[in-house]
Amino acid sequence: MKIGILDSGIGGLTVLSSLLKKCPEHEYIYYGDTLHLPYGEKTREEVVGYANEIIKFFESMDVDIVVIACGTLSSNREYLKSNKEIIDIISPIKGKLDKYNKISIIATPLSIKTNAFKKYLNSELNLIACPKLVPIIESNDYSNLDNALEEYLSSTKDSDALILGCTHYPIIKENIKKYFKKDIICLDDFIVDIIKKKKTCDGTLKLYFSKIDSNLEKNVKRILGRKDILIERKCL
Ligand code: DGL
Repeated sequence: MKIGILDSGIGGLTVLSSLLKKCPEHEYIYYGDTLHLPYGEKTREEVVGYANEIIKFFESMDVDIVVIACGTLSSNREYLKSNKEIIDIISPIKGKLDKYNKISIIATPLSIKTNAFKKYLNSELNLIACPKLVPIIESNDYSNLDNALEEYLSSTKDSDALILGCTHYPIIKENIKKYFKKDIICLDDFIVDIIKKKKTCDGTLKLYFSKIDSNLEKNVKRILGRKDILIERKCL
């Protein structure tokens, strides 16, 4: 399966990396819109406009699935258009985190404003907009990171879990751990589970027949409902 993955920059690579590790059998195309980042400080209209162009590019590459590896775009999922299947990284958390009483969520200003997480969680929520983090991570200059984390995470003490609501944040997970000692949840885990389930119709399959005529391949594809069929003639 061909999978297009998009983000404003390097954040979505955290999702790509998990997918490559756990679902290596697929073909991946990645697009990071570094010219327009940070998305989290732009308007919904702007980021949706950029994303729909990237999705068109993926369509021209004939991908089967588009993975929105960006929390900010996933918060605005309903405005993204494609004739391909779109998988966002927020909705897969639905029903998965109900064991927590109180969850803190750190994300970009636009994600927090959209409040998309609320739709999928039943716990008490503490929403924290973190405008400084994406620019720090993209610039690779971490000199102000500790100050920023101290500021953003000061209100998380009574939460049982912290959601990294932006795909850039797993890059600084080790730094975040210094300020939040309980469960840290990354969104890519949930996407991997979805793509993994798709593996069943995509795994390697070998078919042998003792006689092969012109109709055989067509028939096999029709009956099995898949196109990536390799048939080998084998006489026993
Ligand atoms: N990785 C994007 C996200 O998950 C960062 C958005 C930005 O560029 O501000 O929201």
